[in-house]
Amino acid sequence: MRILVSGGAGYIGSHTTLQLIAAGHDGVIVDDFRRSKRSVVARLDALAGRSIEVHEVDLTDLAATDALVSAGGFDAVVHFAGLKAVGESVEKPLDYYSNNLGSTLSLLAAMSRHGVPKFVFSSSATVYGENAPVPMREDFPTSATNPYGWTKVMQEQILRDAAVADPSLRVALLRYFNPVGAHASGTIGEDPSGIPNNLMPLIAQVAVGRRDKLLIYGDDYPTPDGTGRRDYLHVEDLAAGHVAALDRLGTTDVTVSTWNLGTGTPTSVREVVDAFSRACGHELPVEVAPRRAGDVAESYADPSRAEAELGWRADRTIDQMCEDTWRWQSQNPDGYPDAPSGSSSDLR
Ligand code: UD1
Repeated sequence: MRILVSGGAGYIGSHTTLQLIAAGHDGVIVDDFRRSKRSVVARLDALAGRSIEVHEVDLTDLAATDALVSAGGFDAVVHFAGLKAVGESVEKPLDYYSNNLGSTLSLLAAMSRHGVPKFVFSSSATVYGENAPVPMREDFPTSATNPYGWTKVMQEQILRDAAVADPSLRVALLRYFNPVGAHASGTIGEDPSGIPNNLMPLIAQVAVGRRDKLLIYGDDYPTPDGTGRRDYLHVEDLAAGHVAALDRLGTTDVTVSTWNLGTGTPTSVREVVDAFSRACGHELPVEVAPRRAGDVAESYADPSRAEAELGWRADRTIDQMCEDTWRWQSQNPDGYPDAPSGSSSDLR
């Protein structure tokens, strides 16, 4: 299949593009490089062993998106592109709604006009809201506690409505738990712009000396060691989930399929810190701080539906996740290099 990967220069998109290519698909990247670096493209080319087609397009631009899809001959779209910082979404809700909803709407309009039948969407476990019991199942009600989360809930609804109107559409709503880790080569990984919001990139930056210490947000949760527990999964397992979902959309009669992508096993903040210390070979300075507003004690998946319907499981361990994150971070302490300004020589 020829597959358009939106946000393909980003963290999860880059790993997934490589796996699509390895599976024999033609993965084509569209990215506006607002939060990703152009230098990722050369690294992807090196890992893929060929030049990957890349388009620089803002997907909220309806006409530009239509032109891209019209000329592309795509069989499917995998839609990663979007803003994802919870705190920023509270400060700038309209940016989040217009960007995240706008890009999905223009992609769907262009796909409908040009007959692209498959859509795989990057959703999030955040759609289970604040009070969901664990493990979380796909049939739980959805809600959100911040604009970022609402954009995920709303985009899921937009996709369900689009599939009612066009029963030939096949949609996968993939609800990610906590993606971490990096490609085994250490040449691509997570490179958050600005101060990271998430635990693993913060730990990695402490380990490499970019920050003094990690703040543990609360050690008085009702969990075995008092720290929050999450369902961390390796980004390579997550990428494989997308390949499996795309395959499945080719055979299913179900118009919209929702799959949790997680391991089903919770790991505490202290357990992640310990695993990372083993991986990097030294202790990491931590300090216990108050709970972070909006955090829940525990979030982890019931991944049995994805296992049954996709034949997919996230098997890599927390130690592998930390080892691969450390390889990436230690080889690239400041993340990807900036391309010289104005250079788009690696864009095609
Ligand atoms: C966060 C977002 C969620 C989003 C997800 C993926 C919030 C409240 N939730 O989820 O909406 O879908 O990221 O981007 O922001 N922790 C620390 N110290 C830190 C950072 C985190 O102790 O400096 C702890 C947290 O309290 C939590 C765990 O580490 O227990 C994981 O945090 P994080 O990586 O931010 O993920 P989520 O809280 O699951």
